[in-house]
Amino acid sequence: MSEFNKLVFSGVQPTGNLHLGNYLGAIRKFVALQEGNDCIYCVVDLHAITAQLVHEDLRGQIRSIAAAFIASGIDPEKHIVFNQSAVPQHAELAWVFNCVARIGWMNRMTQFKDKAGKDRENASLGLLAYPSLMAADILIYRGTHVPVGDDQKQHLELARDIAMKFNLDYQDNIRTSGLGTDIVVGEEPVHAFFPMVEPLIDGPAPRVMSLRDGTKKMSKSDPSDLSRINLMDDEDAISKKIRKAKTDPDGLPSETEGLKGRPEADNLVGIYAALADKSKTEVLAEFGGQQFSVFKPALVDLAVNVLSPITGEMRRLMEDTSHIDAILKKGGERARVRAEKTMNEVRDIIGFLR
Ligand code: AMP
Ligand code: TRP
Repeated sequence: MSEFNKLVFSGVQPTGNLHLGNYLGAIRKFVALQEGNDCIYCVVDLHAITAQLVHEDLRGQIRSIAAAFIASGIDPEKHIVFNQSAVPQHAELAWVFNCVARIGWMNRMTQFKDKAGKDRENASLGLLAYPSLMAADILIYRGTHVPVGDDQKQHLELARDIAMKFNLDYQDNIRTSGLGTDIVVGEEPVHAFFPMVEPLIDGPAPRVMSLRDGTKKMSKSDPSDLSRINLMDDEDAISKKIRKAKTDPDGLPSETEGLKGRPEADNLVGIYAALADKSKTEVLAEFGGQQFSVFKPALVDLAVNVLSPITGEMRRLMEDTSHIDAILKKGGERARVRAEKTMNEVRDIIGFLR
């Protein structure tokens, strides 16, 4: 529960091609949340340099994420679309959070462990502090709701831990500055400056799996292009990848119970449901008892119908980058005004002179 104004915030890294996992786990939800909410959607370019410092055509990558947002239906006039590095307050608040968060918290993050691999000592300090910047992205706007895929759940729990520790450590200063609001966290009343962010992870495809292996997440970094549907794939590529998608020999069950222990079938049904804005139960009511030879062509048609207008619009937007650049610049200016307000309050709470 919170007394804070509802604000939706999310971010996508400009690293590699966007795929169906990004679209269903994140961007499609961003679009739906626009109705009736104040939303800020960010291309998180500062995060992009944590795992790999030098990127070929980083500017192009940033523009293509922004193009995907717009092509999917995000309205940059009603809401805010910008790139993170244009608003330096993200990095400034992240520094404060680096002093709030504990090294032990960061070391426990599974994404850090995965990305750092065996040679942890040689990972960048930025990769370790990544979740602290992510918390700052959201909290610099005092964001309350964050639509993401399932893989980001742990990072959002950490954002809550950071917000809570800041609120508790600075409890007295928050009061004497006349800032903050009374909330209850669990049973405990807290005078909070930062809200407890709520992850929005639900839906039929919170974790879209690889088309080659239903136990692995669909990912930008999988060496096999057949494992994912990219947002820039054309009809032929989509059709080929779905036809070749791994399945088991059985037909589709009539109820979701029957998807247990069948990760590939579960994944394809989840993808269909998310693309059709239906539940898995509804999809199985329609396709239960059918073979994949019937289901796959239906999935191809649906995927092409949903994705090809987006792909077409992305291509069109990428032809004239000045339009995208203007959207990002204006979004950055609007975001900066809000971020500076919060940052000034944080400076007052901490006791910096300004
Ligand atoms: P990233 O590309 O890592 O910045 O991810 C952008 C968004 O897409 C985040 O909200 C992720 O949680 C989401 N996402 C990435 N991969 C998947 C996937 N396979 N299934 C569902 N959501 C995903
Ligand atoms: N860590 C997220 C990812 O890899 C991207 C991200 C950065 C983000 N800052 C954020 C997502 C703030 C939500 C809110 O997908």
